Amino acid sequence: MRPNVIYHVECSLDGRIDWLKPNGFLYYRVIQDKKYDAMISGSNTILAAPMSQDEHIVKLLDQYLIVVDGQGKIRNWDLIKRQPHWNSTPIVLCTKRTPESYIRHVNAEQVHCIVAGDEHVDLRAALGEIAEKFDIKTIRIDSGGVLAGAFLREGLVDEVSLLLSPQLTGGTSPKTIFVADDLDSVKDVVVLELKETRVVEGGHVWLQYRIVQRTTQS
Ligand SMILES: NC(=O)c1ccc[n+]([C@@H]2O[C@H](COP(=O)([O-])OP(=O)(O)OC[C@H]3O[C@@H](n4cnc5c(N)ncnc54)[C@H](OP(=O)(O)O)[C@@H]3O)[C@@H](O)[C@H]2O)c1
Repeated sequence: MRPNVIYHVECSLDGRIDWLKPNGFLYYRVIQDKKYDAMISGSNTILAAPMSQDEHIVKLLDQYLIVVDGQGKIRNWDLIKRQPHWNSTPIVLCTKRTPESYIRHVNAEQVHCIVAGDEHVDLRAALGEIAEKFDIKTIRIDSGGVLAGAFLREGLVDEVSLLLSPQLTGGTSPKTIFVADDLDSVKDVVVLELKETRVVEGGHVWLQYRIVQRTTQS
């Protein structure tokens, strides 16, 4: 059985993830009492994430880090393993088209590697293998709208946890929380049921939803 998947994301009132005003990492603080076995990010999120270079880094969380990296972009696994927000045994998801040299690289770095899919990682198959091999029952998606969009369209998300920043950003580039091909029918809209709403500091609102109707692909 696949793990429970929660998409936790921070955005503006118009659903954008760019130009968010700094708020003391409220995105992480609102979920500090939640327990997840793993977090999953795409290669772009990991490449954009700040990494501590300190010699002695104290681990703060024991969750797995799972990275979707079908194109083999992430090289600095040694540094990634030492970061405080996950354990030191990351998992990378690749495809049959990922260069063989990259698979050798992650093996040499002692990073667990799961190969699933051709053009893109087959997320459903990968989740099944992850659950079985690592006993992972809950996963938080920590990504922008591209990876989350793939999860949502595949019907692989169970909950959406959305931190709403009190701002309107505007723009035409697709930097929103759900990037996917346009629908041709209303039947594929993802329908949500509100679980909880909380006003948090600085006028931010934290909304938690359960997905009640998945896409027709699920
Ligand atoms: N506001 C927030 O809460 C929040 C949270 C986290 C990150 N971010 C920001 O989000 C931005 C990046 O977000 P992003 O979503 O564009 O990048 P991302 O999280 O890095 O996701 C891109 C990944 O999705 C994979 N992918 C794309 N289409 C797929 C499909 N159909 N099936 C399976 N996998 C697929 C790609 O795989 P391949 O490697 O195989 O190409 C790539 O690794 C960064 O600026 C980051 O700082 C915001």
